[in-house]
Amino acid sequence: MTKKVYIRTFGCQMNQADTEIITALLQDEGYVMTGSEERADLVILNTCAVRENAVEKILHTLDHMKGKRRSRPGLLVGVIGCVPQYYREKMFGMADGIDFLAGPDTYRQLPAMIANAGQGIRGADFGFSSDETYCGIEPARSGTISAFIPVMRGCNNRCAFCVVPFTRGKERSRPFRSVLEDVGRLAASGYKEITLLGQNVNSYSDDEAACDFTELLDRVAVAAEGVRIRFTTSHPKDISESLVRVIAARNNICNAIHLPVQSGSTRMLKLMNRGHTREEYFEKIAMIRSAIPGVTVSTDLIAGFCGETLEDHQATLSMMEDVRFDFAYMFYYSVRPGTYAAKHLPDDVPEEEKKRRLEEIIALQGSISGERNAAEVGAVVEVLAESESKRSSEMLMGRTDTNRVVVFDRHGFEAGDLVKVRIRSSTPATLIGTPA
Ligand code: SAM
Ligand code: SF4
Ligand code: F3S
Repeated sequence: MTKKVYIRTFGCQMNQADTEIITALLQDEGYVMTGSEERADLVILNTCAVRENAVEKILHTLDHMKGKRRSRPGLLVGVIGCVPQYYREKMFGMADGIDFLAGPDTYRQLPAMIANAGQGIRGADFGFSSDETYCGIEPARSGTISAFIPVMRGCNNRCAFCVVPFTRGKERSRPFRSVLEDVGRLAASGYKEITLLGQNVNSYSDDEAACDFTELLDRVAVAAEGVRIRFTTSHPKDISESLVRVIAARNNICNAIHLPVQSGSTRMLKLMNRGHTREEYFEKIAMIRSAIPGVTVSTDLIAGFCGETLEDHQATLSMMEDVRFDFAYMFYYSVRPGTYAAKHLPDDVPEEEKKRRLEEIIALQGSISGERNAAEVGAVVEVLAESESKRSSEMLMGRTDTNRVVVFDRHGFEAGDLVKVRIRSSTPATLIGTPA
């Protein structure tokens, strides 16, 4: 009987949150989690399909597992999440040695699928559900300081480049009461930070309770006074003034907004089906900055989308110079079969050129992040310590409420402490300091 399970999680925070749900489901059935792949009877890969290289990583990992299976007969391998949902049964042919496949809405079936796999019966389930939110399952949390609460699943937008609507299905929200119950439990157990998750949190809606995301965030902040509240991701077309006012009004809602823009060119934004122009994005940024002094704004950018000219690329660079994002996640465009762009728009920027444009974007953002962080030198900031720093047990790593990473001298503090830190130096990615 398969007993010890190792889950390896790829992709976004949604997948990390799903792994905690799956862990709880399996533990309920008597499975034991192990942090060691070597000791596991069952390895589950919770996967991401957002870019081609994310899929390649999974195929590479499966290739590596093939060798393991030879030396450890009886080892089971399951692939779950966005990659199998995207490729469906075809996935069995993409790599050897897969015992079962499960999409993101089918995790309640996992214990049965694993039991079948143990008997040599290969299973696959890619069903979408219009209402599955895994409500009622208490996640097996992987941390004790910060926790995720998914408030919605799926996405109803149709950004031309994106697989997520195909892998995660239609939007659905968790009832606000169940979110508040989770928040209450986490606050009572001493968690210091809660992040509300959704692909587009602004479209959260509990119709029965007439509760939208603004109200949800407000209620969560009140229910967990003293706990830092974060949320991700907001969509620029949907983020509202009322939401921004709630962030400004509540001390414990972090002053950091992640607002993916993808491109600075209105022509590209239209082709991407993002639903807003360059100017409208600037207006949203101005609205956010005037309402929340000191707020940090981060973004996602894609270089080399279909038909992107040098002029469009320059528009992205000039937008970055105007907005001066605090940090950014930057990618080059990767065609995803089945999406609108793959079907209708030519992938006509050569790969070398996509990479060159991406390098330019990364270099510019590096210098902007560097300047923004340098401006913090000499300031005293409040840091929630998360862990020992990678380099030394004498240093702790944590974040400011504005989501800046700070590494500081330990001076007897522990992970979970809120520490006032005086910043003495900086790099583009990190502030370095000492308790004030
Ligand atoms: N829901 C969020 C949003 O609306 O921005 C995040 C979606 S996705 C999981 C995270 C980021 O991956 C996107 O913002 C985009 O920058 C990037 N991305 C998505 N599809 C991509 C593709 N085909 N090629 C390159 N980057 C992509
Ligand atoms: Fe993808 Fe757009 Fe939905 Fe974000 S909002 S998950 S980029 S389709
Ligand atoms: Fe990847 Fe799926 Fe998240 S495609 S980014 S793991 S929703």
